[in-house]
Amino acid sequence: LKETIYLDYAATTPVDPRVVAAMQPYWTEVYGNSVSIHACGRTAAKGLEAARGQVAAVLGCHPTEIIFTSGGTESDNLAIRGIAWAARQARRGNHIITTSVEHHAVGHTVEQLRELFGFEVTIVPVDAHGWVDPDEIGRAIRDDTILVSVMYANNEVGTVQPLAAIGQITRAHDIPFHTDAVQAGGKLDLDVDRLQVDLLALSAHKFYGPKGVGVLYVRRETALLPALTGGGHEWGHRPGTVNVAGHVGLATALRLATEGQGSETARLTELRERLVGGVLARVPDARLAGHPTERLADNACFAFRGCDGEALLMGLDLAGIAASTGSACSTGDPAPSFVLTAMGLEPEWGIGSLRLTLGRWTTAAHVERVLGVLPGVVEQTRTLQEQG
Ligand SMILES: Cc1ncc(COP(=O)(O)O)c(C=O)c1O
Repeated sequence: LKETIYLDYAATTPVDPRVVAAMQPYWTEVYGNSVSIHACGRTAAKGLEAARGQVAAVLGCHPTEIIFTSGGTESDNLAIRGIAWAARQARRGNHIITTSVEHHAVGHTVEQLRELFGFEVTIVPVDAHGWVDPDEIGRAIRDDTILVSVMYANNEVGTVQPLAAIGQITRAHDIPFHTDAVQAGGKLDLDVDRLQVDLLALSAHKFYGPKGVGVLYVRRETALLPALTGGGHEWGHRPGTVNVAGHVGLATALRLATEGQGSETARLTELRERLVGGVLARVPDARLAGHPTERLADNACFAFRGCDGEALLMGLDLAGIAASTGSACSTGDPAPSFVLTAMGLEPEWGIGSLRLTLGRWTTAAHVERVLGVLPGVVEQTRTLQEQG
């Protein structure tokens, strides 16, 4: 594993050793339950509240607007279901707006609300770059709209959405605006007032924190019912004994990533540009997928015509390169992902998608190695496919 060139940081990241060190005391020494009255509990609660304060500082919000959860999936579920159920309880409306490129944590949650609970849903389309036009969101708004959910940055193609422009519209209509910011954590501005969002989901394992730990920001006075029922933790929004060590890790990771954000963005953009330029120059029938400029610094997503993405990944894996694809082979018949399909990419191109995501330990030598290996692996994959 040591030899692997890891280019799958959008899937998950290694935990930064400084984050591990910050968490360490909370496993063994400060082990109290953060809601216990005694000194052990109070010490744990102090660590937890310090973590909450650090996260709130990055988001520019009040600490009581931060709910700790078990990750991005739970944060999205709590936001969407919580708003929908609160609206149902108050008989306020029945209509939800989202987009065609959301992560399943959002897409499937909205779909379940439609199917099982009778909510009406408008799925706003994206353009060929995976970008959402704020005017399309505006046009979809109805008198009974109770929620708009648009992701900050796409996990597959890295396109960054115009949240502030959308937020301006939702605010004018007094509709809660949720964003899945899981891919943006530690990489883009997270100030909730500048973004004009009312709910924002983050996940620690995408920014060098531990897995299974997340945050949901909820603007004060937003009506939200809990998706889980139980004790009164997290102001009743998220019952269950709180993972203090994990959230200390999340807060430390977010602080570190935010501190280094400017220089890391510049470094990764330069590496990404070298990678994109090199791949497009050396691999025939290749395209960049996603937005040419409005994209995450670390994301290089390609489409290779007539080249099975999964076979390509296996070839790269054999060469010691860990990457990801947006295509899936379910019945021996490769198919593009729903994201690439929503962007209008022809299946012939979409089946050959390759996502390379860079991160803190990516070097120029890694990029050179990929540029050396990838053209041959693509050619080999195409040849093997032709031979059938
Ligand atoms: C955009 C997006 N949303 C949500 C999630 C889910 O987050 P988690 O793995 O913390 O549940 C992911 C993870 O891949 C993601 O990329």
